[in-house]
Amino acid sequence: MIKEITAKELNPEHFINEKVKEIQQVVGNGMAINALSGGVDSSTVTMLGHRTLGDRLKTVFIENGLMREGEPEKVVNLFRKLGVKVEVVDAQKEFFAALEGVTDPEEKREAITQAFYKDVFGRLVRERKAKYLLQGTILTDIDETVAGIKRQHNVFEQLGIDPKEAFGYHIIEPLIQLRKDGVRKVGEALGLPAEIFDRIPFPGPALAARVIGQATPERIETVRKATAVVERLLKDTGAFQYMAILHEDRVTGMRDGLRDFGQQIEVRCWESVDARVATPTQLSFEILEKLANEILRDVPGIVSVTYNIAPKPPSTIEAV
Ligand code: XMP
Repeated sequence: MIKEITAKELNPEHFINEKVKEIQQVVGNGMAINALSGGVDSSTVTMLGHRTLGDRLKTVFIENGLMREGEPEKVVNLFRKLGVKVEVVDAQKEFFAALEGVTDPEEKREAITQAFYKDVFGRLVRERKAKYLLQGTILTDIDETVAGIKRQHNVFEQLGIDPKEAFGYHIIEPLIQLRKDGVRKVGEALGLPAEIFDRIPFPGPALAARVIGQATPERIETVRKATAVVERLLKDTGAFQYMAILHEDRVTGMRDGLRDFGQQIEVRCWESVDARVATPTQLSFEILEKLANEILRDVPGIVSVTYNIAPKPPSTIEAV
């Protein structure tokens, strides 16, 4: 059982000091590696790891081909300003090869997990002679995986998987007692800017979690374009998380007077504190119409735009 530290009872400075000690104890004089995605959790772990290990922590950004528009440059530049060097590793081929032909949601998650931990990190860890992977698993990831709802990409021990045996390295998870609201407080205390610690969550499987059915490069590009519109138009709502989802079903539409059997985008926008339960934001019809018009204008192949009005549960935040 992992003992939860609620955001309310969390003392960020005390927490950071404790975790620095723990990481030092485990890593000793060794090398560690961590993957930064630019999300709240991995950004916080990156800062914590650098505070503890300095140059003995190598931070990489895995370009898996599933990230949002302009992310690698954005993340690298932002962390450079914070004094953290981030190396971009191009692994697009590995990820799309792993996802080829996979349509089942849990199989898709498993394919990404294997590509991440076995193929890409396995290779990196060997090359860099690191024995430890530092990662930002949080309590919500564990809960849902153990409950069998979703296999979160970064959970092993609680499923009886020994990372050392399966992948050849140890995994250190300093944020495991926290939920999202607690991580934000720790991230802020570590000097992350608000644009990062207040950033909306983004899942490990990235845009592959937002494509129903096969995640091909073309379909990922479609949802990437729709995501850009949704994030731009909803950034001032103060909502917990918002996203675009590409559906598998097609519907008949028309374009330039011709029939177009086109694709559908579903928009989701959530109110939540820690992602355990969530309700759809009551967006104005004006915003909804704007979303539809700009998605139809900017995303080729889309003829239908819908808004999800079901809460979690029984829905979940991501569609896959
Ligand atoms: P769900 O879809 O399970 O999402 O309601 C709850 C929260 O977790 C995020 N999420 C993930 N985060 N790895 C992660 O690190 C994952 O595999 C993953 N799947 C979902 C999701 O964005 C939401 O904030």
